[in-house]
Amino acid sequence: HDAVLYLRPQAGRDSEEFFADARYGELWVGPRPSLASLAATTGLECRDIAALADEVGLSLAAGTTSGLRLVPDADPAVTALVTPLRSGGAARADDEFVTALSELRLVKDDFEVAQLRAAVAASARGFEEVVRALPRAVGHPRGERVVEAAFDGNARVEGNGVGYETISAAGDHACTLHWIRNDGAVRPGQLLLVDAGVEVDSLYTADVTRTLPVDGRFTDAQRRVYQAVLDAADAAFAVARPGVRFREVHEAAMRVVADRLSAWGMLPVDAATSLAPEGQFHRRWMPHGTSHHLGLDVHDCAQARRETYLDAELREGMVFTIEPGIYVKSDDELAPAELRGIGVRIEDDVLVTADGVENLTAALPREADAVEAWMASLR
Ligand code: GLY
Ligand code: MN
Ligand code: MN
Repeated sequence: HDAVLYLRPQAGRDSEEFFADARYGELWVGPRPSLASLAATTGLECRDIAALADEVGLSLAAGTTSGLRLVPDADPAVTALVTPLRSGGAARADDEFVTALSELRLVKDDFEVAQLRAAVAASARGFEEVVRALPRAVGHPRGERVVEAAFDGNARVEGNGVGYETISAAGDHACTLHWIRNDGAVRPGQLLLVDAGVEVDSLYTADVTRTLPVDGRFTDAQRRVYQAVLDAADAAFAVARPGVRFREVHEAAMRVVADRLSAWGMLPVDAATSLAPEGQFHRRWMPHGTSHHLGLDVHDCAQARRETYLDAELREGMVFTIEPGIYVKSDDELAPAELRGIGVRIEDDVLVTADGVENLTAALPREADAVEAWMASLR
């Protein structure tokens, strides 16, 4: 096929748009590249979007776009324009198209991997800013916001911004999986779970979680939960390589989680029974998946079919997260008292290599001792 990119061309000072269009006018939002310069950047033919309706209409009339496919929610204006021109059955064709686009992104090329490396490097610097901000966070009634602002500010300075809403969760808030309110205090003696990623200007994003002892030292109970999560992550790392199925990475982590929860007396059955499909008692404390693909979207390739994602074998060039967690709510009567109110997640981003995975986020310490030493070095 031939690719054509339809865009708004530059509108000069002699145009109405320049002065009057608050959404696109240069006076309002700054200059846009010309079609010629965009063609040079992308290597694609670029045309004025004003011609799109006519060109699609003509093609349909000529019967040459019976294969027209649309990502319906990508641009409501284009959807509104194309829909009346199309016949029935289009919705199903579009679904297949959306799936195909998602699946095209499963294996990253060199450019994409370089962008993800840049996103990860900027995110690592963001986590350093978080550690530096901790004394200020502890002294503030909304310390979680102080942490969020430290990470997000750096993301704006270094990249396009954050790739998703930062989770800054102290103490029991870590057990609320998508705690993005971030309006709580940060207290010495607590753990702080920070799930945050920088999106670079090309829009590729990192997705990283570290769980930090606010005052720089893990307590024994915190360390016990932390080590269990780290061991689960390491088990996932150990199995991940080309030829292994995506879901087997999750299963490796779950074996460790179930084993540890069983040792702590939290499961009503033994670990093996819990791991069986009809068991799954351990999922109460680790209810999310261990991994998802990562790229332009934080949950990249989300429309891929099960057989190309969860059930598919890993291939060199795939990038995904490894992010087990254990979350014990403060009112959890099934848990030993000393573990209540402890939530831990460790999230790394990995690239599948010829014979394993490379941890793209290795610059950020993971082991408990290394986390303590790293925090001390930044204070
Ligand atoms: N921050 C969203 C995720 O970890 O999937
Ligand atoms: Mn994630
Ligand atoms: Mn995350």
